[in-house]
Amino acid sequence: MNLNLVGKTVIVTGGGSNIGRGIVLAFAREGSNVVIADIDEFQGQKVAKEADILGGKTIAIKTDVTNVDSVAAMVKEALAKFGNIDILVNNVGWGMDRLFIEKPRAEWEKEVKINFWGVINCTRAVLDHMVERKCGKIVSIASDAGRMGEYREAVYSGCKGGVIAMSKSLARELGRYSINVNVVCPGMTLPENPEHAGELSMWKSPMAQFLTPEVQEKVAKAYPLRRLGKPQDVANVVVFLASDAASFITGQTISVSGGYTMM
Ligand SMILES: NC(=O)c1ccc[n+]([C@@H]2O[C@H](COP(=O)([O-])OP(=O)(O)OC[C@H]3O[C@@H](n4cnc5c(N)ncnc54)[C@H](O)[C@@H]3O)[C@@H](O)[C@H]2O)c1
Repeated sequence: MNLNLVGKTVIVTGGGSNIGRGIVLAFAREGSNVVIADIDEFQGQKVAKEADILGGKTIAIKTDVTNVDSVAAMVKEALAKFGNIDILVNNVGWGMDRLFIEKPRAEWEKEVKINFWGVINCTRAVLDHMVERKCGKIVSIASDAGRMGEYREAVYSGCKGGVIAMSKSLARELGRYSINVNVVCPGMTLPENPEHAGELSMWKSPMAQFLTPEVQEKVAKAYPLRRLGKPQDVANVVVFLASDAASFITGQTISVSGGYTMM
């Protein structure tokens, strides 16, 4: 299948860590130009170097997706460097498992800012350009939590559900400009190597210490395919949705979670 991604320009938010890193490397292998928009400059540069030897050209631009000015500056720099933006992957996400009634307000606010406002800011920032060119692909990384509501993840689930609903609305508004908007929901996907997670990664936060091998095994048993996800599993679907092969698919949500959710 010819995915026709050679020379296309892709912005991957949070491309410095784990799933985002996997997505960056997958597009690089397809010969795309990749912009890693990550707040962690060190990790972004590190992944850019890894990607650069695979194909295309990759740059890292320090970006805070919760800050409109920072996002606008990143888009401007990406356009100056590569001329066009063909694909946006809204990958940044953050959550802290905790019962809703025990959750401090600062944590809700961080979850809403990163998981929902981040997607709104980045999507809006690329749209004038995509509408003018009458083409574009937007793929947002949500979560099965946003489809079914996960225990101890009320606000995170709400934000991810918001991303799914917003993407459907945008698919209806933007289809006339040949802009496809889709969502991918990973299952539990751990970094294959600790170095593949940035310092700000959820997998370096205190939450990760509870994910003992026993807990991981229990989660894997809840998945019909009996294993956890790998960044490449998610990246494969993102690359497909961003390609010409998926040009008649929009407003869809695909779970890459070993059959955990079926809807
Ligand atoms: N990994 C999983 O098990 C899993 C499961 C379901 C959904 N998801 C979703 O997949 C996506 C990627 O998850 P992951 O595990 O790879 O994440 P991660 O925590 O490993 O990486 C997140 C990246 O985003 C960057 N980042 C954080 N705040 C930022 C900001 N304000 N602006 C720009 N960059 C910022 C970090 O520096 C880091 O590089 C997220 O949207 C997450 O919610 C992950």
